[in-house]
Order: sequence, then structure tokens, then C-alpha cells
Amino acid sequence: MMADPMLATRSLRKAFGGIVATDNLSLEVAAGEIHAVIGPNGAGKTTLVDLLSGQLKADGGEIVFNGRRISRLKPSARSHRGLARSFQITSIFPDFTVLDNVALAVQAQSGHSFRFWRPAAGDARLYKPAGDMLARVGLEGRGGVLAGNLAHGEQRQLEIAMALATRPKMLLLDEPMAGMGIEESQSMIALLGELKSDYTMLLVEHDMDAVFALADRITVLVYGRSIATGTPADIRANADVRDAYLGTSEGE
Ligand SMILES: Nc1ncnc2c1ncn2[C@@H]1O[C@H](COP(=O)(O)OP(=O)(O)O)[C@@H](O)[C@H]1O
Ligand SMILES: [Mg+2]
Repeated sequence: MMADPMLATRSLRKAFGGIVATDNLSLEVAAGEIHAVIGPNGAGKTTLVDLLSGQLKADGGEIVFNGRRISRLKPSARSHRGLARSFQITSIFPDFTVLDNVALAVQAQSGHSFRFWRPAAGDARLYKPAGDMLARVGLEGRGGVLAGNLAHGEQRQLEIAMALATRPKMLLLDEPMAGMGIEESQSMIALLGELKSDYTMLLVEHDMDAVFALADRITVLVYGRSIATGTPADIRANADVRDAYLGTSEGE
């Protein structure tokens, strides 16, 4: 247990009919850490992210973020408190430019109701931070491109820029490397490593190279339950984890 986790779940539960996707789950994410959540397909990783972001309502238990209970808040209210899910705020508008997409995300955060047209091109209150966010994710120079014309990896970067536009304290990332080739994965790992100095992250990821490169701590889910939490070294050495997930050949 840590003194002041940025995020904590306590006995969180979610079932779909007879399937218990989140089973009495208690985990804590410390401020400043990258906390990876791993586990086999169907372990409940996406359900956990949905519960944290508010896309799904828990059947029981609590979620505490920054010392406040957020379990009953809507997704937008959680986002306002600084808990951002990449891909949550809005999906990308493919016919808008990259910069317009981020400006829309800035506009949505700044309290204006979300509008499905381009914000005023001259509005520096939107476009200055939008440009800053693009630079932050390595998309400077791509702002004028239609978002639909970005490469797959660049779209993932754009989604992160849009999440950053909400000025979060913490990012929830569900498989940000999915569908990426080796080079794209490498640059996403570098980006997340760079963002770590400013944002706490919960990272669901299948790519074990990414997990072991980035995570400060790892929680392993199996059938909705946490079977282990620890440092990457702890997790590698954990016999239950090796049996359940990593396979006995891991690290040998
Ligand atoms: N909307 C849903 N309706 C019914 N079952 C679901 C739903 N979402 C997830 N599940 C089930 O809950 C379990 C956990 O799924 P999920 O959270 O997507 O796992 P993971 O992301 O770890 O692969 C699985 O058995 C899945 O089939
Ligand atoms: Mg999933």
C-alpha cells in the first residue's frame, strides 16, 4: 500500500451475465508511475479501462482518483478531473486536418460544447496549445495533413495529442501499440517514455518489450483478478505469472 496513490480501485467488480470480467480488483497507481496491466485475452483489461474512464458502470467497489471517489461520475466529469483515456474524447475526424483535430479537443476541454465543425482558424487560444501538443507527440510538421491520411502509427500519436489536449494528470492507454510494426512501436515506446515525466499512466499492452521497457510496476490480471503486482523484476521472477501468462521459457 502506498500513502497517496493517484488512482486506486477497491474491490471493483463487473460481470457480464455469468462472466466476471472484474473480480474484486484492488490496485493502486502511484503518482508519476507507468503502471502496466497485462494478462491473457479476456482477462478483463479493457473492462478495467472502461470502468476507470466511466464507459462502463461497476457493479460494486470504488474508484478513487486524486483522493476523490469518481465511481459515479460520467466519463466527461472524470476527464475534467484529469483522467484521460486515449481514444475516449472523440475519435479522429479523418476529413479534418491533424491540427484541427487537436484544436477541437482543446475546444472541448475548454468548456465549449463540442461542435462538429472546424474551430475558428485564427483562434490562438485553441491553435497554440494544439500546436504544442502536436510537437509533444512528434507530429510537428504534420498539422496540415488530413488526419485520415496519416499512417497508422501517426494516428495513434494524434490520439495521444488529443488526450493531452484535455490537460490530464493521468492517461489510460489500452494497447497503444496494437497493429504497429517494429519501428512504429519503438517510436511509441520512446514517446510514452518521454511523457512519463509529466503524466501518470495506466498502460494495457500486449507487447512485452514495451511493458518491460516502460513500466515501473506491473499488475497481472487473470479472469478479472489480480494475481500479482510488482516491479518488472518481481513479475519476471513470479512463478504464478510465468505459469499463467508469460510461459516458462520467459527470460531463459
Ligand atoms: N460488453 C460485453 N458483454 C459481454 N461480455 C463482455 C463484454 N465486454 C467484455 N466481455 C467479456 O469480459 C471478459 C473480459 O473482456 P475484456 O475486458 O475485453 O478482456 P481483455 O481486454 O483483457 O482481452 C471476456 O470474457 C469478455 O468476453
Ligand atoms: Mg482488451
